[in-house]
Amino acid sequence: MKENMSVTVVGHVDHGKSTIIGRLLADTGSLPEGKLERVKQNCRKNAKPFEYAFLLDALKDEQQQGITIDSARCFFKTRKRKYIIIDSPGHIEFVKNMVTGASRAQAALLVIDAYEGIKENSRRHGYLLSMLGIKQICILVNKMDLVSYRKKAYEDIVREYKEFLSSIDLTSNCYIPVSGAAGDNIVSSSCRTKWYKGPTVLEALDLFDGEAPLKDKAFRMPVQGVYKFTKDGDSRRIIAGTILTGKISAGDEVFFYPSGKKSKVKSIEEFGRKNVTSASAGHAAGFTLTEQIYVKRGEIAAVKDKPRVSTRIKAGIFWLGKKPMETNKRYLLKLGTAKSGMFIERIDKIMDTSQLTYKKKKRIDRHDAAECIIKTEKALAFDISRDISDTGRFVIVDGYDICGGGIIKEALEEVPENIVWNEGKISYEERCRQLRQKGIVVWFTGLSGAGKSTIAAELEAELFGRGKIVYRLDGDNVRYFLNSDLSFSKSHRNENIRRLAEIAALFKDAGIITLVSAISPYREMRDFARRKVGKKEFVEVYVKASLKTCEKRDTKGLYKKARNGEIKDFTGISAPYEEPDKAEIVINTEKIEAGEAVDMILEYLRYDI
Ligand code: ADX
Repeated sequence: MKENMSVTVVGHVDHGKSTIIGRLLADTGSLPEGKLERVKQNCRKNAKPFEYAFLLDALKDEQQQGITIDSARCFFKTRKRKYIIIDSPGHIEFVKNMVTGASRAQAALLVIDAYEGIKENSRRHGYLLSMLGIKQICILVNKMDLVSYRKKAYEDIVREYKEFLSSIDLTSNCYIPVSGAAGDNIVSSSCRTKWYKGPTVLEALDLFDGEAPLKDKAFRMPVQGVYKFTKDGDSRRIIAGTILTGKISAGDEVFFYPSGKKSKVKSIEEFGRKNVTSASAGHAAGFTLTEQIYVKRGEIAAVKDKPRVSTRIKAGIFWLGKKPMETNKRYLLKLGTAKSGMFIERIDKIMDTSQLTYKKKKRIDRHDAAECIIKTEKALAFDISRDISDTGRFVIVDGYDICGGGIIKEALEEVPENIVWNEGKISYEERCRQLRQKGIVVWFTGLSGAGKSTIAAELEAELFGRGKIVYRLDGDNVRYFLNSDLSFSKSHRNENIRRLAEIAALFKDAGIITLVSAISPYREMRDFARRKVGKKEFVEVYVKASLKTCEKRDTKGLYKKARNGEIKDFTGISAPYEEPDKAEIVINTEKIEAGEAVDMILEYLRYDI
């Protein structure tokens, strides 16, 4: 059987995409019997000149009527393989289909008009291909007939486009001067471009690397469910799902992620089939294990090559929701059969795909494509999209609707393998509901003597008075006990903050309003705390007072000692303090009393607690 390859054809409007597709179909003899003649006849009848682009329209019309579906989906064959042209009505549909998995192009032909030159869309489409991870691109410099097949016209475009591609980390060694209308270098070499020695479009396509067939890839099966055999006395459990890639056989050692549990395949079970010993991609299958382990829906079964496991993902997202995607909102991410709450942690780039222009903004609007970092509530198992696309993409759900899709570019902070995590039965949300409050962390940072502990204690009393469950973690206090092994060197301070952040995250998870007051002089560690706790439940309060003021107050007499050299590494004097750049609240204690500060914080938290 010949292998398949899906190819997309992109380019600026009117640069000749349809003509080239029409040519490919006609010149490879892939059109239905008599089609070309009929279209030509039709043109004569209507007194309009025949164009190859009309073939595509004619085929599409037929597809709508449900006839000759095969050719309407634009197949053509070479000796090497069968090509499927993915023809999307527009780039929005194309990106949408790519990220949601409706279609997947393995290679692209990008068409540029030699006469008009490189247009905005020529560049934008190049960018989209790069975002979608399509690396096999052939640039067709089209309409060479309009520039009298001049070598220089071709070379100018090649040079300019090469420069652009390298600026977005893409390269293409494949440039071909063509004319869709005249048929030059599409299927056969043209004598009008003698100076060109490279392949024709058809040859170039055949030179692209094919993708390994799905069944030759690493085994991946998202677990759909675990079922018990119903017959009396049969205690076996069958792990069921659809095999996305690879193959599994009886006797294979099988792993489940994210849990990292493993066992051996005892038998393969396929409905309606007896005595099967293996199953491969595309099949709904099940298997039993030699050793019973607790596996549940949402895990990914793997053999040998393992998927990544992480709670932070670098992804390319395409947004379809009517409401824009917000950075502080919780969404549901679905990947295979797994689900997890998620937040956007950071947006690196946003592109408006209807205009295909970069936008500097803080939210992702409908039809935007964004590169961002996603934080998931649960550890997820997945692959990088370019390795295994089926387990390398996800959809985003808001309420009941799918409102976006994404492809995974990188796994950040991978969760070490084989960690034992004993899942409880109660979620953070359930705890908060029971306590009738939201577990959050208010993190006070600032110089020694700025007023952090004072404000935190006032706030604690106020919240407690309102019936809230609230607890303070104070730098000075924690250093007496848990952190008595730590000094004030940079690495020890960082360890101090790491522990405080970890405890605060646990307290928050328990549903408690947690107030942390520590100098926490390094931005890097405050950011760690923010990540650890979760952006949504973290409020950074910068308690601000100048060094001069703190030193004048010198409530603990430490500044004096620091000046005398009795204390080393003293913040503000002999150790740095990095001012917050994204504190939710700034309180200047040179101007504001503790009581007023408490009001400010309560006002900010109004809807949260
Ligand atoms: S942090 O830098 O690691 O965040 P933390 O808030 O826990 O500091 O502790 C700071 C408190 O320790 C100060 O309020 C002060 O009472 C005391 N302290 C003792 N030595 C130092 C020092 N060298 N620098 C800062 N604070 C010190």
